[in-house]
Parts: sequence; structure tokens; C-alpha cells
Amino acid sequence: MAKPQYKRNRKTGSPRKARRGTSVVEARETGAVSKSPSGDPGPKKAPQPELPPRRQYSGDRLAEKTGLILETAPTKDYALLDSGDGQKLERYGDLTICRPEGQAIWQRSLPEADWKDVDAVFTGDTDEEGQGRWHYPKRDLAETWPMAFDGLAYFGRFTSFRHTGVFPEQAAHWQALQKAIAEAKRPVRMLNLFGYTGLASLVGARAGAEVTHVDASKKAIGWARENQELAGLKDKPIRWICDDAVKFCAREERRGKTYDVILLDPPAYGRGPKGEVWQLFDHLPYMLDMVRALQSQHPLMTVLTSYAIRASHFAIHEIMQEVFTGMNGRIESGELILRQQEGGRALSTSMFSRFVSPDCAT
Ligand SMILES: C[S@@+](CC[C@H](N)C(=O)[O-])C[C@H]1O[C@@H](n2cnc3c(N)ncnc32)[C@H](O)[C@@H]1O
Repeated sequence: MAKPQYKRNRKTGSPRKARRGTSVVEARETGAVSKSPSGDPGPKKAPQPELPPRRQYSGDRLAEKTGLILETAPTKDYALLDSGDGQKLERYGDLTICRPEGQAIWQRSLPEADWKDVDAVFTGDTDEEGQGRWHYPKRDLAETWPMAFDGLAYFGRFTSFRHTGVFPEQAAHWQALQKAIAEAKRPVRMLNLFGYTGLASLVGARAGAEVTHVDASKKAIGWARENQELAGLKDKPIRWICDDAVKFCAREERRGKTYDVILLDPPAYGRGPKGEVWQLFDHLPYMLDMVRALQSQHPLMTVLTSYAIRASHFAIHEIMQEVFTGMNGRIESGELILRQQEGGRALSTSMFSRFVSPDCAT
């Protein structure tokens, strides 16, 4: 059996056993697979450094809001059309797509004919462990197609593990983010960790932020750059960094760098470019300690999203409360949902917790 990596007791710093629930299956569900969501072969496992003990915080617990549901309604660019029987039917721009959706345990609302009238369907090995395949019943489709969020053009993309190059429910965060940056009326530095295809980075840059985007996958960074070009944002100040998010944060902290906006959407399990292992339950507290240290003097917002923790949003709420203790602002936590166009059902996709400064009205 493999030795546990990076495991430390919270108080004593002594090794502890790995927690269950951070399986590769979950990582694949989020697109952050051991091989990387882009299908890169994945580097060899590197020796894992020991994690330092957790930092201590003093001061008042922040004002808080829990049970917050952030909803993404159907738009002309994206709509969740229907869901049920373990599948979801979505419209991405001009394309209608059918994909597996484990949470859709109810019956479908739309007639079978609508579910058959699709441009792409993810089939094949739909076993959670399997990679599966895309099929195009009407005509052959290219790997990418044009999409937009609030006028920002990007590529939808058929990727392995049933993903489409975008997590549409993140639109709720993008809206809050662009509002906070635009209304700050001062230079804003933004850090996007585990940034994937770069949509949040582009939203931030378009709103006026100087953006640092970090992802371990070269392929995903390539896709993000393609999105930047399509969006016509090549002149915007975005640093695209292919690195392990943990290592990058440690380096930024040593350099005394700070950010006004930080986003992190870590997978359950992932790998840095040199094989550095990321295990959410082990690394997230350490990562958040660094995120706290990277806060600017007047931070606007720090958003942590988790598709991986199959528990309550209170789990990530409490760790955010801990690391932001004593700061001026509030912690808001809840879920991201997609509102279905047909029948009005709500499909829950992830949990989130965010630090929001008093300067941001959310
Ligand atoms: C779930 S995706 C993020 C989705 C993104 N927030 C969005 O809305 O489009 C997770 C990303 O984390 C990256 N990743 C996994 N392990 C990493 C690590 N150790 N350091 C940096 N990035 C990593 C993967 O390459 C992937 O692009």
C-alpha cells in the first residue's frame, strides 16, 4: 500500500491517516483528474514535502451568511433544459448536449423526442471510473464551438470525462467578481488558482483586474490562452502560470505578493506539473493559510468553490471563518445551483464559501 502523503495533525503537526472521500472518481467528476482534465498523461509522482503546522489566528469571528444559494438561470448562451434519470440536457450556444448527471435522480420533464434531438451525447463507458466518449448523432462536430458569457466569447469544448470546458454555474461568481472589480475604482490584483480554461481570469481581466492565473495542466493553460484570443483580450494583463498551486502560493508569500481578489476551485485530487500530489482534505487548510497571507491591505473577495466535498457547506464555511478571523468583512457560504429552463427544477452542482469585504455589495 502506498504511504500517505502530506498528512499532518492540525494541532500537533504530527502525521495522521488520510481521510476517505477524496477518490479519483470524485476528481474525475470535477474534471480535475489524476491525469489532469485535459487528458495530459500526468507526470510521475514526486517526493512530497512535509506540510508545516497550521497557523493560529486571533480576533473576532466574521459576520456570516450561510445557506446562500447562488442560482444561474437560463440565458441565450447557456440553459439547463431538463434533467432526470441520471442525465442532463443542456443548451450551449447553438448546441444541445446530453451528459450524465448523478444527482438527477428524478424523472425527466421533456418528452423523449427532445432528449433524442441532440447534437452531442456523452456515452460509451459511463461508468464513473471510465473515460467514456462523445457521440454526434446529427453531424460530426469539431472539438470546440463558440460560446459566450455576458458578451465575453470563449470556446465550449468536448473534453474527456464528460466536461465541456466550462462550469456554467460559475457564472454566479463571475457576476459578483466583475461587479466587485468594476466598482472598486482602483487597481485590482486577482489570483485565480486551479484556473482551468481561464473563464474567471478573463472575466476579471475584462472588468479591469491585473490577473495571475495558475493551473498545473499545460493543456488547460493552452485552452485558456485560446479563450483569451477569442475574447479579444490579448492586450489585458494576464500572467498564465503552469505550476502547482501550493508551490506557487508558497513562493508568492515568500516574495511578499498580495492580491485583492483570490479564487480557488480545487479538485478533490490532482497533480502539479512535477507530480506534486494535491489531496483536498490534506492540503486545503494549508492552502487557505497561504491565501490568508496573500490578502492585500484592502482585499475585495476570496471565493472557494468545492465540487469535491460531499458534505455540508459548513465544512468549508468554518475553515474560511478560521483563516479570515480578525479581518474586516464577512463570510458567505452556500451552494451553486443551475435553474432548469423546463419545469423550474434546481440542480445543485457545488458548495462555496467566500470572504467579502465591506466594500463589496453582493
Ligand atoms: C475543477 S477544475 C477548475 C474549474 C474552474 N474553476 C472553472 O470554473 O472553469 C480544476 C483545475 O485544477 C487543476 N489542478 C489540479 N491539480 C492542480 C495543482 N496541484 N496545482 C494547480 N492546478 C491543479 C486542473 O488542471 C484543473 O484545470
